[in-house]
Amino acid sequence: MSRRRQIYEGKAKILYEGPEPGTLIQYFKDDATAFNAQKKGTISGKGVLNNRISEHIFTLLGNIGVPTHFIKRLNMREQLIRQVEIVPLEVIVRNVAAGGLSKRMGIEEGTQLPRTLIEYTYKDDALGDPMVSEEHIACFGWANQEEMHDIADMAIRVNDFMSGLFAAIGIRLVDFKLEFGRIWDGDFARIILADEISPDNCRLWDMATNEKLDKDRFRRDLGGEVEAYQEVARRLGLLPEGSETDVLDLESHRKKRGK
Ligand code: C5P
Repeated sequence: MSRRRQIYEGKAKILYEGPEPGTLIQYFKDDATAFNAQKKGTISGKGVLNNRISEHIFTLLGNIGVPTHFIKRLNMREQLIRQVEIVPLEVIVRNVAAGGLSKRMGIEEGTQLPRTLIEYTYKDDALGDPMVSEEHIACFGWANQEEMHDIADMAIRVNDFMSGLFAAIGIRLVDFKLEFGRIWDGDFARIILADEISPDNCRLWDMATNEKLDKDRFRRDLGGEVEAYQEVARRLGLLPEGSETDVLDLESHRKKRGK
């Protein structure tokens, strides 16, 4: 494949050295994992869709003043991003009870929460990403108080914006996960939004039918993963309306044209 220097390989993405210092190339794979990689699979075309969906959402967030690592999409599976020092936290934002919260608290899935709930987990696969409090975050120095203020503030802004974006296309934003990173300017660090936003890390339910349009289709063996991701992309206006275009056809077509 590529002869570029690989910086990091995660479960769903690979990071390569970018063309300029301080930049990286983020490559979206078709690999899917769940339950801390105990369940593994491939969703053909997922990487192409997530690259496109994440580009769209990060661009819109940038337009409303949320600082992000996204610079530009390069091709079907890659985007140019700013290199950041990742804050080792997964920031989970919940509007409706589902998944881990329902299990932990015994709340029926689909129950509207009385207010938006933000949870933090420590990013460590070997430990299974344990849930942590702001006390742990301060105690272990993963982020300082000012950074945590910025993170919570941005998480709420992202939630407000995305809830509206998805509601307008008949999708309920149940919950999602964000990651943040630091960029350094001399001695000063600034927090920006990193990673990706896609059906891999959001729960998206059709408002009319409650159909799941996200990675729970894979986690729960429901099937139709790529169709669900494609439906999200289509409703966001990222695929031609009414098109039956298979993302893989699209990808091989572009490759033949050398794009
Ligand atoms: O599993 P749980 O209910 O805690 O997940 C909450 C949200 O965070 C879901 O949208 C899920 O897709 C996302 N998540 C993620 N990566 C993880 C854990 C959760 O994207 N490692």
